[in-house]
Amino acid sequence: MKQINYQKIFEPIKKKFGDVKIKTSIILGSGLGDFADELNLVTSIDTNQIEGYPHSTIPGHSGKIFLCEFSNNYHIVFKGRIHLYEGYSTEQVILPAVISHLFNTKYLIVTNAAGGISDNLKPADLMLIDDIFFLHYKSKFKSLSKYPTHKFALSKRLNDYVFEISKKIEIELKRGVYAYSAGPSYETPAEIQFLRRAGCDAVGMSTIPEILYSSNNDIPVVAISCITNFAAGITENKLSHEEVTETANIVKDKFSKLLKNVIKELPKNWNS
Ligand code: HPA
Repeated sequence: MKQINYQKIFEPIKKKFGDVKIKTSIILGSGLGDFADELNLVTSIDTNQIEGYPHSTIPGHSGKIFLCEFSNNYHIVFKGRIHLYEGYSTEQVILPAVISHLFNTKYLIVTNAAGGISDNLKPADLMLIDDIFFLHYKSKFKSLSKYPTHKFALSKRLNDYVFEISKKIEIELKRGVYAYSAGPSYETPAEIQFLRRAGCDAVGMSTIPEILYSSNNDIPVVAISCITNFAAGITENKLSHEEVTETANIVKDKFSKLLKNVIKELPKNWNS
């Protein structure tokens, strides 16, 4: 396997952004790419200009990394996810999480678009990810961990904290289990029934590698799904990438408000 020189990819970003202290680092999912516009832009870099940085092949995922200021802190925003199903390796997919780590970020926030499986979820809902489901991740992602870790990837205490923020600003936030589906196609109705019986609430094709990398490196991580569609077979509707981006657009304002409040209200350091 080709090793990635993370330090070499990090250097031009660090040069552009300078010696800044980063509070949160945010990786944006499908259709949520405009979030950086909600913050005060300091500078940005096109991932095309960074040698060795993988390019997204998905519409709406053009790559840019923003340095922003908001509520007296600096934040990094990654636009343009790369996915395993595009043929990239786990080591490439976790790049934004690794760069965040090299910047010594205090928190990683990961967002995604997901299909709703449970009766409790419908398009335009937001779901805080309490747990993750991907039966094969232990072998698939073994490079993420130098040794077996048995700790739980997501913190209940941190999620409770985020949930309280959502209540305070009166934005409804559901909670549930996110299942990783390898993609690139959507699931079959039978696969969704399997996931439903296994206790999964939503399904998507991203996020789990970044969560595992961060938790293995002791970075507190918050993951939020935007439910963009009913998962396959839950309704008669045929799934499409357009539906996913359309719903994400409708949800943009409440999602941005939630994210802004979360990055503002999280304490400077999290003692887990
Ligand atoms: N399945 C997988 N990934 C997704 C979906 C879905 O239904 N919706 C958005 N991303």
